[in-house]
Amino acid sequence: MAVHPIRYLGDPVLRNRAKKVTRIDGSIERLFDDMLESMHAARGVGLAAPQIGIPLRLIVIQTDPEDEPIFLANPEIVKVQGVRYLDEGCLSVPGYRGSIPRSTKVVAKGMDRSGKSVRIRAEDDLLAEALEHEIDHVNGVLYIDHLEKREDLVKIEPEDEAELDGEPEGDEEAAG
Ligand code: NI
Repeated sequence: MAVHPIRYLGDPVLRNRAKKVTRIDGSIERLFDDMLESMHAARGVGLAAPQIGIPLRLIVIQTDPEDEPIFLANPEIVKVQGVRYLDEGCLSVPGYRGSIPRSTKVVAKGMDRSGKSVRIRAEDDLLAEALEHEIDHVNGVLYIDHLEKREDLVKIEPEDEAELDGEPEGDEEAAG
């Protein structure tokens, strides 16, 4: 396993539609492991392959360190319902957070790391937010694209950031 550097806003890999994977083989499994390790190193709760420079439709989400990580290939949103405003951040847009509309209920589908088709349902939680956030990433979309007005994006003061690093992750600090 290896930690890969996170790609930041301005890198074209974040703005392209990533390619589908045809099947889960050893190289995809290694990539999933690298994504998880890179996500942990960056203290994130979700990561999409383009964020480490790999233009493939692969995401990993782990909203609670005690839960098993969710690995999805070719993830798609099947259904959404409701709107809620969330304070969101992204590992690829460091130093900022923004209030954006997300769905209350999310149903997503994809292939798990054994190649099986799976459906994931989430409602009103960090998982619902992370599914939309990471699936946006494989479509070249960033959370800042959902800002309704420029003032909804706020710069995190360096001292706040330092504080966040020293605290266990919670909903408010999560980034993917
Ligand atoms: Ni992100």
